[in-house]
Amino acid sequence: MAPPRATARQRPSPLSDPQQIAREKQAAAAAAAELVEGGMRVGLGTGTTVAHLLPAIAARGLSGLRCVATSPATERAARELGLTVEALDEVGELDVAIDGADQIDPQGWLVKGGGGAHTREKIVAACARRFVVIASAEKAVQRLAPPVPLELLRFGVHRTLSALAPARLREGAPTSPDGGLIADYLGPIEGPGALAARLSQTPGLVEHGLFAPEMVSLILIAGPQGVQRRAGAKSQR
Ligand code: 5RP
Repeated sequence: MAPPRATARQRPSPLSDPQQIAREKQAAAAAAAELVEGGMRVGLGTGTTVAHLLPAIAARGLSGLRCVATSPATERAARELGLTVEALDEVGELDVAIDGADQIDPQGWLVKGGGGAHTREKIVAACARRFVVIASAEKAVQRLAPPVPLELLRFGVHRTLSALAPARLREGAPTSPDGGLIADYLGPIEGPGALAARLSQTPGLVEHGLFAPEMVSLILIAGPQGVQRRAGAKSQR
């Protein structure tokens, strides 16, 4: 279900075992599915970790779930599993949103958008009382590293890229479902907060893939020893 990645996202170390990573994604997703209860309004992220989440939620057979998807791929996959998917504006505030991440630093900053869906993902996460991040262990890093995904307006995109330098359009990436161009910031990340502010201030930027710790309620990181729970900095609404 996850769209193919035409991106320079951070790659797992060559020593990582893809099957072990897939098992970890599944374990994190299964733990998150247990947080969903009947009647909840649920935001569904995008990516290969979320691809494990959808069947885990569907298998619970909960009644009255109302889901909001962050991408057409997630929407299709959720519907195929029998989940009810509605538009965000029909559902309004969400009880929980669950999504993957490309990188997670010790302070709880995230880099997201390896699949180019970070704008919708950030909107959905911000609409949720709890935002839960699910990841395999290799996503936990000591320090965030480029690329940071960007979504840009088409109008004046080369001026926007100059203002965001060093940044470039992501080769082969489709536009977002909202018509935005997907690009990556490739410079250093001295401080994620300062970089997030700089990116946000640039006219022509639709959204960047840095998610602040205050957006995150809970991080579930699965490794060989099981699923580790890290509290996020978001206060419960
Ligand atoms: C998509 C995202 C994904 O959550 C992120 O790229 C992680 O992907 P995966 O679960 O496939 O490792 O932000 O825009």
